[in-house]
Amino acid sequence: MSRPPLKSQIAFPSLAAVVFGLALYLLHQISGAPFSWRFMTEPEGGLGWAMRVASICFWFSVAFVAVRLLNELVFLVFRKRKGYDAPALMRDLFSLVLYVTAAALILKVHFSTVSFGALLSGSALLGIILGLALQDTLGNLFSGISLHADKPFQVGDVITVGKHTGVVMAITWRAVKIKTFSNHIILVSNSSIAKESIEVCPQNGQNARIVFFGALYTDSPVKVIHVVREAVRECENVLRYMTPVVRIRNLGDSSVEYEVKYWLSDYSRYNDTDALVRQRIWYAFRRNNLTFAFPTRTLYMEQPASRDGDGHDRETLAELLSAVDIFAPLTADELGALAASASGRVFAPGETIIRAGDDGASMFVVSRGSVDVRVEQNGTPRTIKRLAEGDFFGEMALFTGEPRTANVVAAEETEVLEIGHDAMRSLFQTNPDLVEALSHTINERRAGLAANATAAPGEEETPAGLLSRIRHFFHLD
Ligand code: CMP
Repeated sequence: MSRPPLKSQIAFPSLAAVVFGLALYLLHQISGAPFSWRFMTEPEGGLGWAMRVASICFWFSVAFVAVRLLNELVFLVFRKRKGYDAPALMRDLFSLVLYVTAAALILKVHFSTVSFGALLSGSALLGIILGLALQDTLGNLFSGISLHADKPFQVGDVITVGKHTGVVMAITWRAVKIKTFSNHIILVSNSSIAKESIEVCPQNGQNARIVFFGALYTDSPVKVIHVVREAVRECENVLRYMTPVVRIRNLGDSSVEYEVKYWLSDYSRYNDTDALVRQRIWYAFRRNNLTFAFPTRTLYMEQPASRDGDGHDRETLAELLSAVDIFAPLTADELGALAASASGRVFAPGETIIRAGDDGASMFVVSRGSVDVRVEQNGTPRTIKRLAEGDFFGEMALFTGEPRTANVVAAEETEVLEIGHDAMRSLFQTNPDLVEALSHTINERRAGLAANATAAPGEEETPAGLLSRIRHFFHLD
């Protein structure tokens, strides 16, 4: 709330000072008394009382002008030093103290024989009356003073007191003025603010909002999270340097429930920004073929057995497998048989697919995404190889019966096809060359592991030794 300009504040008291000064001068001329300080404060003769009244009015007017000028000067310095305007309550209190002091001085000088102290202290009744009459006012005043001392919020902050939320417009000696988001002005008295709990969203603070939405179970969370995060960070009034956080808050009955947390530049515009965020999410979903969830009931008809756990049909799996180097020599029937026994699995970024030291009964082919092969070096994991689409892993434990040699972790959202021991065994029987091709890969990978091992490598196995061990393990001899 802006104060009236200084000019209009001092115009009237200045005029009054001039008028009463002139009156005093005229009275002095008429009375013919010598012009002195005493003449103003203790005038004698017939015109004595008139002169005293004129003098009191003159000095009161001068005091008014002086206090207002002083107030302006002091708080100009305050603004220059602190960089912001002093609260209205502080300015009012400053003026009040000066007014009371000036009034006491003026009255004391003009009525030097009257003891004001005795007058005030003697009047217990006046005290009680004043105390009762000003109970609420004083309560507000003191609560206002403690609000200023505490500084829980400032003009421009968004606060919630009781059921009211709005931007603080002013803090006066009586109340806090809030402008709600429906443009209503609410005055909450300082004493009720002191009693209530207040939620404060500082004007220049990093205030966040959370917006909820739901997506279908068939939409990948990694994709949803990425798409929404990018859409929200572009919104107007969203802080650029704080990346929005999108996360799953619940696996609901008919949707995966998400929340997006974002930070605002200007918190007082959160209603508009929430709406814009929702709008951007809608468009981003549309562009990326994602679907909003709504209450649904899905009826599952039994599917023919050719589908794997992740919804791929046999032909698609066979096509994916044919892209793998080592399976290139296989006939269409063999690929079909392999596909029938393989199943698709999807992993989130960072999920472990294979853990070093575990027993292994299957191998995997990367059909989408990529994985990291990691070994522990001096207690810290180190990626020794990244395998992409068409690569396979997990063959070492499957073909030798030894524990898994490394951790394999999804580097991004990754789909793999899992192939079990039995499927490989029947392939080996019809394709003896396959064993040899695989034993080469295993040997190469073992060399890679040895190069990255901190411990001294064990005794190396010859390719022929490895080959015969695989044959033996699969009962191919
Ligand atoms: P397995 O030992 O069953 O489980 C870990 C897998 O990581 C392993 O089979 C290989 O498929 C793979 N792996 C281990 N070392 C390497 C390497 N040097 N290069 C590529 N893949 C590897």
